[in-house]
Amino acid sequence: MTTPRSIVAVYPGSFDPVTRGHEDVARRTRRVCDRLIVAVAESSSQSKRHLFPVPERLEIMREVFADDHRIECVSFSGLLVDFARRMDAQFIVRGLRAVSDFEYEFQMAQMNRELWDGAETVFLAPDVANSFLSASLVREVAALGGDVGSFVSAPVLKRLRRRFS
Ligand code: PNS
Repeated sequence: MTTPRSIVAVYPGSFDPVTRGHEDVARRTRRVCDRLIVAVAESSSQSKRHLFPVPERLEIMREVFADDHRIECVSFSGLLVDFARRMDAQFIVRGLRAVSDFEYEFQMAQMNRELWDGAETVFLAPDVANSFLSASLVREVAALGGDVGSFVSAPVLKRLRRRFS
C-alpha cells in the first residue's frame, strides 16, 4: 500500500504589500493542498520600486496568516522553479484577476515549465470583490493619503499608516 504524499503548493509573488486579493487566493489554495508556501521573491521579473523590504513583507505576512499553521511565509532568491523543486511542490499557484493578467501569467507559466518540466501552474480566480485590487494601486492610494482599509488587513494597514503618516 502506498502512503499518500502530502500536497505542497507554492504561491510566489512580490507581496509588496500583501493585499486582501492575495489573502483570498492563498486561503482558497489552502483548501486544495496540505501545505502552502507563500513565497516572497527577492528578485522579481518586473523591475519595481519596492515599498517594504523583504524581511518586513514577511513579518507582515506571518501576522496576516498567523491563524493557519499550514500557510508558511518564506522568501527565496534565484529562480522560482529551483525553489519550488527544493520544496517538493506539486504546483505553483497564481491569481488571475482579469483577462489582462493572462498574457504575463501564461508567459511565466510556460517559461517555468521550460526550465523545469515538473512546474505545473494553477490559476485561481479571486473573489470578484477583489478583482480590481493590486499591490501597486494599494501603494499609490496609501501614499496619496487615500483610505485602503478595505483592501488590506490590519497588520498591513498599520505598517502603511506608519510609513505614510
Ligand atoms: O507578484 P509579482 O511581482 O507579479 O510576482 C512575480 C514573481 C515573483 C512570481 C516572478 O517575478 C518570479 O517568479 N520571480 C522569481 C525569479 C524567476 O524565477 N524568474 C523567472 C520567471 S518566469
